[in-house]
Amino acid sequence: MSTPHSPKDSLIIFDTTLRDGEQSPGASMTREEKLRIARQLERMRVDVIEAGFAAASNGDFESVRSIAEAVKESTVCSLARANENDIRRAGEAIRPAARGRIHTFIATSPIHMEKKLRMTPDQVVEQAVKSVGWAREYTDDVEFSAEDAGRSELDFLCRIFEAVIKAGARTINVPDTVGYNVPEQYAGTLRKVMERVPGADKVIWSVHCHNDLGLAVSNSLAAVMAGARQVECTINGLGERAGNASLEEIVMAVRTRADIFPVETRIDTTQIVPASRLVSQITGYPVQPNKAIVGANAFAHESGIHQDGVLKHRETYEIMRAEDVGWGANKLVLGKHSGRNAFRARLQELGIAVETEEQLNAAFARFKELADKKHEIFDEDLHALMSDEAVTPEVEHYRLVASRFHSETGETPQAELTLTIGGRESRSQAQGSGPVDAAFKAIEAVAASGSELLLYSVNAITTGTDAQGEVTVRLAKDGRVVNGQGADTDIIVASAKAYLNALNKLSGNAEKLNPQL
Ligand code: KIV
Ligand code: ZN
Repeated sequence: MSTPHSPKDSLIIFDTTLRDGEQSPGASMTREEKLRIARQLERMRVDVIEAGFAAASNGDFESVRSIAEAVKESTVCSLARANENDIRRAGEAIRPAARGRIHTFIATSPIHMEKKLRMTPDQVVEQAVKSVGWAREYTDDVEFSAEDAGRSELDFLCRIFEAVIKAGARTINVPDTVGYNVPEQYAGTLRKVMERVPGADKVIWSVHCHNDLGLAVSNSLAAVMAGARQVECTINGLGERAGNASLEEIVMAVRTRADIFPVETRIDTTQIVPASRLVSQITGYPVQPNKAIVGANAFAHESGIHQDGVLKHRETYEIMRAEDVGWGANKLVLGKHSGRNAFRARLQELGIAVETEEQLNAAFARFKELADKKHEIFDEDLHALMSDEAVTPEVEHYRLVASRFHSETGETPQAELTLTIGGRESRSQAQGSGPVDAAFKAIEAVAASGSELLLYSVNAITTGTDAQGEVTVRLAKDGRVVNGQGADTDIIVASAKAYLNALNKLSGNAEKLNPQL
């Protein structure tokens, strides 16, 4: 037990934004997007990055492998169901990593074993043990998860945990897969398994909580008080259904209440807001203004009494400093007189990889175009600029070449677009209830995608009326849901780009398995 004077235990931060986070509807990301997030997670000093689920598709395999090649400071992990094929794919994908982990899982609750797996408890234990053995052929760093542990029987959990520890698992994860637990109960489960399982002191106990009842962070923190030393979490709390425990809330709770928690993390907290913005931009999931730590209002004081108090003494109403989590760090980085080298250097600092000189030239040309319209270019503008650029030409089936919009009081708004579709130029025009509606109809007139528009949202990337508008368009077709993004100082152009970006994603082959099914 830690005392106020004893050194604190390390709390391992395991980020699963790129795996569980990607399971949020429409949040699937390209390999380049995942690499950019992985680099930001590494910069933030996340201990373990769950880079994906290598066996889900070739695209997922390549993403995990690229991250394993690129990331040097964090452990890179792939998820794998408890079967030989999944584990071998995960093992191959993490092979280039400086430190690689395989995370294998099988369900342990009666309802999952009987209705989903159709396996007996004995078969589940046998499969789990075999799987840890296959994983150990690739790495010593093997994590085992008992899926739906939150609704599993304690005796069975103890039995399977004992068996996988003997087989060589080093981290034992106790997920509340369906977000059903409450803090006292969940902490109790952790305490009991840690007391009862032989070899419990040889492994790291981990938690993975879903937020269906809004308790993911509370449950995770209660488990930390009970002895868990790894928390699985995501940036902005992204994740399957209601999401996972949010990384920024876990990290800042432990740091702000150092008087209570006997642990500390390695996280560079000044990277939290940049990470939140990057994930939001890439996935198209906006951050609600009142979201703890990373919401736009998290440090804004509205009432006069509060403002007066903060001016007199900041700590009257603030328990954390905005700058400690990276607010206000959005530096004015470049302007229209900045040269190619400054541009390249800033991209490197932001961890945005530009693979070829042609890509750099094209991005620089777009940067100059933007700098002409908008004199101050911030990091967020560069991220948006490069997320457009990240679409490689071979998957950019649809591209906006030119646009003209007409909107006048008393007239029906109209859009005229020139697009390339598969390299061939085509023109289209349409009317709509507004210029954005007209633009989407003009695109559909030639693309005829048959997709359904599920969401349209606009956000200003930075402040000021010259800010770029960032648009997210969510489209669904044949059971697939994708998010497209587009940014421009003209929000109608940004909207057309976002729609085309979503169509490009739909036309790519992003077939996926869902590990939860
Ligand atoms: O929620 C869950 O149980 C998971 C496991 C695969 C760890 O995501
Ligand atoms: Zn999960």
